[in-house]
Amino acid sequence: MAQRLEVTERARIAILISGRGSNMVALAEAVRAGRVPNAEISVVISDQKNALGLARARAHGLETMVIERSGLTREEHDRTIVSALRSHRIDLVCLAGYMRILSREFIDAYPDRILNIHPSLLPAFPGLDAQRQALEARAKVTGCTVHFVNETLDGGRILRQSEDVDIQADDTVETLSDRILIEEHKLYPEVVSLVLENLKSSSTVG
Ligand code: GRF
Repeated sequence: MAQRLEVTERARIAILISGRGSNMVALAEAVRAGRVPNAEISVVISDQKNALGLARARAHGLETMVIERSGLTREEHDRTIVSALRSHRIDLVCLAGYMRILSREFIDAYPDRILNIHPSLLPAFPGLDAQRQALEARAKVTGCTVHFVNETLDGGRILRQSEDVDIQADDTVETLSDRILIEEHKLYPEVVSLVLENLKSSSTVG
């Protein structure tokens, strides 16, 4: 059971990225605009030193850290990240294009406090290339999902989905990904806001 946050506390969010970081930017902009009330992005952590998102995070005035995997086991790498999260007194961890499955130890360190966004209507099309999978399966509709993270790839409890993306006959992976991304950028801040509200009260999100 997740420990509750004090209502007056400003929630401290960490965002983990591996790539371009557009969802990270969407979250940062939502926090700045007050659409995620009483919260701050305390740190953006990348496991890739060349991640495009790092420069974008700095351009938004966010603290960044690079914690590379090289030479470390998954457990060692995660332990380093968890220790950075602890030193930043993080309340909520948002994975945003973070390309690694988390270890048990990481998940246990933040029970019900790690979220991920995925570009499909889970449980359909987990894993890599979700948009290509949807096209190849000739799905008619797709969207995105925000879910809690567990040790299964894209397998944790689903919080919210956006089912607003119709697949067109002439869609390519790129055109479809672009339309899903628009929905991702709306959905993720909404769910973060709900989860934080939930942590400050006793009701449940879902
Ligand atoms: C998004 O499609 C997200 O759903 C998936 O990885 C992609 C990351 O994109 N998990 P970005 O780095 O947020 O632009």
